[in-house]
Amino acid sequence: MNFSSCSSNKARVPIVYLNGRFMPLEEAAISPLDRGFIFGDGVYEVIPVYNGHLFRLDEHLRRLDLSLAGIRLAPPHDHRAWRTILEEILRRNPGTEQSVYLQVTRGVARRDHAFPQDTRPTVFVMSSPLEPMADSVRQRGVAAVLLEDIRWQYCHLKTIALLPNLLLRQEALDRGAVEAVLVRDGEVTEGAASNVFAVHGGRVVTPPKGPRLLPGITRDLVVELGRAHGLPVAEETITPEQLRTADEIWLTSSTREILPVTRLDGRPVGSGSPGPCWQRMMALYAHYKAGYRNAGRAEA
Ligand code: PDD
Repeated sequence: MNFSSCSSNKARVPIVYLNGRFMPLEEAAISPLDRGFIFGDGVYEVIPVYNGHLFRLDEHLRRLDLSLAGIRLAPPHDHRAWRTILEEILRRNPGTEQSVYLQVTRGVARRDHAFPQDTRPTVFVMSSPLEPMADSVRQRGVAAVLLEDIRWQYCHLKTIALLPNLLLRQEALDRGAVEAVLVRDGEVTEGAASNVFAVHGGRVVTPPKGPRLLPGITRDLVVELGRAHGLPVAEETITPEQLRTADEIWLTSSTREILPVTRLDGRPVGSGSPGPCWQRMMALYAHYKAGYRNAGRAEA
């Protein structure tokens, strides 16, 4: 693939990709008629990069394809072409630890709810330095609150229409917590921007996949690692009561990895400190990540 660029500078400002070209962030411009802006009509991915390697890229791209299919938008690129673009973004931005954001919208068209015909999707990719969570925060754990899941019925799609998630996250922050854990019809679904795990008597449980939650890449890896190393991991419904009485609660996401929740609705979770299952899972995760850092892939 040949890329044109409007800057030959190895610039200090972030270099982004927009519709076939790499350019400094401030030169990237999108029409106000873009359906992402007008309707939130698009999907996205967030991919962590460790030591220059895109972490679980295949899994992220498969989920991107599912999100695109879910909103009836043809994939603008195959996986090889995506990899080329993403690796070029890594090359053009400083640092080996990055967080890559990619977004595809249905493109620019006269405002009309109906899908436009023959419109080119807008493809945008940017990268920012990956800021690891302070170890002290992870070792202390964080606070979460239970809130009603006010979102729609297609939460398995990673769409850019995140207003309900933003409202829920902000409500959590306003209450002194870092995440909202969501409940729909008496079942825990996920966090505003994370998946949820509960531990009861050494048994690790996370809600089963389905339209009520995002199939998190980190979630899947935690399930995979647990099973590969003999930890009892189940994909089962969790009720708010089961969460309140859990020995441990974890949140998982690409940016926060596995984060222990040590206070739920102002009350301590288990002992009030990150538990032994979390310690074990975090060690497995760190080991897996180390394999990726060295070789760009790893065995569970
Ligand atoms: N969000 N559930 C929701 C609603 C999310 O937004 C995310 C991640 C996850 C975890 O998925 P993964 O393990 O694939 O990151 C679950 C990203 C990080 C974001 O919106 O920034």
